[in-house]
Amino acid sequence: MMDSFVAAIDQGTTSSRCIVFDQHGAIVAVDQREHRQIFPRPGWVEHDAAEIWSTVRAVVAGAIDRAGLTADRISALGITNQRETTVLWERATGRPVHHAIVWQDTRTAALCAELGGADGQDRFREATGLPLASYFSGPKAAWLLDEVPGLRARAEAGEIAFGTIDSWLIWNLTGGTEGGVHVTDVTNASRTLLMNLRTLQWDPEILDAMRIPRAMLPEIRSSAEVYGTAVGPVAGVPVASALGDQQAAIFGQACYEPGTAKNTYGTGSFLLLNTGERPVPSRHGLITTVGYRIGEQAPVYCLEGSIAITGALVQWFRDQLGIIRSAEEIEPLAASVADNGGAYVVPAFSGLYAPYWRADARGVITGLTRYVTKAHLARAVLEATSWQTREVVDAMHEDSGVRISTLKVDGGMTVNQLLMQHQADVLGVPVIRPKVAETTCLGAAYAAGLATGVWSGTDELTTHWQRDAEWTPGMAEDVREREYGRWRKAVERSLGWEG
Ligand code: G3P
Repeated sequence: MMDSFVAAIDQGTTSSRCIVFDQHGAIVAVDQREHRQIFPRPGWVEHDAAEIWSTVRAVVAGAIDRAGLTADRISALGITNQRETTVLWERATGRPVHHAIVWQDTRTAALCAELGGADGQDRFREATGLPLASYFSGPKAAWLLDEVPGLRARAEAGEIAFGTIDSWLIWNLTGGTEGGVHVTDVTNASRTLLMNLRTLQWDPEILDAMRIPRAMLPEIRSSAEVYGTAVGPVAGVPVASALGDQQAAIFGQACYEPGTAKNTYGTGSFLLLNTGERPVPSRHGLITTVGYRIGEQAPVYCLEGSIAITGALVQWFRDQLGIIRSAEEIEPLAASVADNGGAYVVPAFSGLYAPYWRADARGVITGLTRYVTKAHLARAVLEATSWQTREVVDAMHEDSGVRISTLKVDGGMTVNQLLMQHQADVLGVPVIRPKVAETTCLGAAYAAGLATGVWSGTDELTTHWQRDAEWTPGMAEDVREREYGRWRKAVERSLGWEG
C-alpha cells in the first residue's frame, strides 16, 4: 500500500506555513512565509487578507514541492489559523472590502463598552462563553459595517461575506468566485461572540444586538469533515479540517481526555483545558470555547486562559529596548544572574486578557532599585510568561475543580530551558514537551486525516504522541508564594492606568 500524506496550513498572526506529514504524524516538509503587520494607529493592527491568501498559496505549493510530492499524493488538506481576525469580502469579486482587523486590535473597546450597557462585559457570556471584549470578531465586523460607507446595505443584500481566516482560506481554496464554499468550523465560530455555545448556531438575539446581517455569515460546520475540493496548486485534494490554532494545538497534543491541558507559547500564550462534552462556565476570568468537533460526534469543550503578550514581550525587549539582538540571547543573559533582583514586568500592552479582561491596564516595570541590571530585567521578562500562566492555571482550578497534574507545552518559547524550568517551579507540576513541537499544524493534519480515513480515531493518534523533554518543579513553596504575591502586586499597579 502507498504511504498517505496529509498537508496542513497554519495561517498565523505573523506568518503562514504549510507542513506535509506522513501517516505516522512525522514531518516530511515545511514551507513558511511572513506577511506584513499594518499599524495605522496606536492599538490598531491590520493584515492584508489578499496578501495572506497569496502567501498561503505559495507555502502550500512550496511544502508539497519540498516533500518531493505532487498534489495527487496528498490525501487531505487541513487548516488552522490565527483566531478572531476578521475579513469582509465581496462575494462577486473576492476582494476584501477593508484590511482584516487582527485579534490584537483594540479599536472596538468603546463599542464593546456601549454594547455591554448595564450588563457590562457579561452581557453575552451565558450564550457565548465570552466576555464582551475587543479581542473577538463580532464587534470588529460591527465596526466595519458602521465605518465603511455603504457596506451595511450591501451586506444586508447578501453581497458581502464575513469570515475568520479559516473561512477566507476555504472559500479561496475551493474556487473563490467560481463556487467557493462559505463555511467556518465550530472552534472558529466560538470566537466570534456571535455563536451560541449550546446550539452551535449563530445566535439571533446577539446578531440583532450587534446589527450583524445573517446574510453575510458562513455556515457553521464541524472541525473535521470534507468542506469541498481544492482548486489551483492542490487541485483535487479534499479540504477536510479547520480549527482555530489553539484548538488545533490541543488536538495535536492528544489532549482528548477531560482534565488534560496544554499551553502554547507564541506571540501570546493560550492555555486550554479539555472539559469534555459539557461547556463549563467560567467565574474566574477564563473563557468557554469549543475545543473541537469531529464530524457528527459530540463537540468537546474547553476552558481557555488567553494571555495576549508573552513571546511578544521578548520581541519588545529586543526591538524596542534593543537590550538583546536576537530572541535567543535572552536566555544566557537571564541565566547570568541568580534571580530577578526584585524586578517584575507586567506586559499589559493591549490591556490584560485572562483572567482580568481589563482594557484599561498598561504595562509596568516595578521593583526597580539601582541594583537591577539588564540581566535581571531579562529574567523578569521571561518570568512574566510563567506568572501569567500561573494565574490562568489557578483560575482553571477554581472554575473546573480540576487541578492539572502535568502541563503539556508547545510553541516557540519552549526552547527556552530557563523559562520552562521557572514554569514548572511556579506551577509546582511537571512541564512536558512533545517530540513534534509543531502541534498546531499537526492537530489540523490529524483532523483532516480523520475526516478522510487516513487515521481511524483519536486512540490511534494518541499512540503517536512522544515525550521529548520534561522539567520538574524545584522551588520551595514559601519562595514560590512570596514571589507570586509580588507578581500580583505588580499586576495591581498596571490596572486602571488608561482612561
Ligand atoms: O487568539 C489568537 C491566537 O489564535 C493567535 O495565535 O499563534 O497566531 O499568535 P498566533
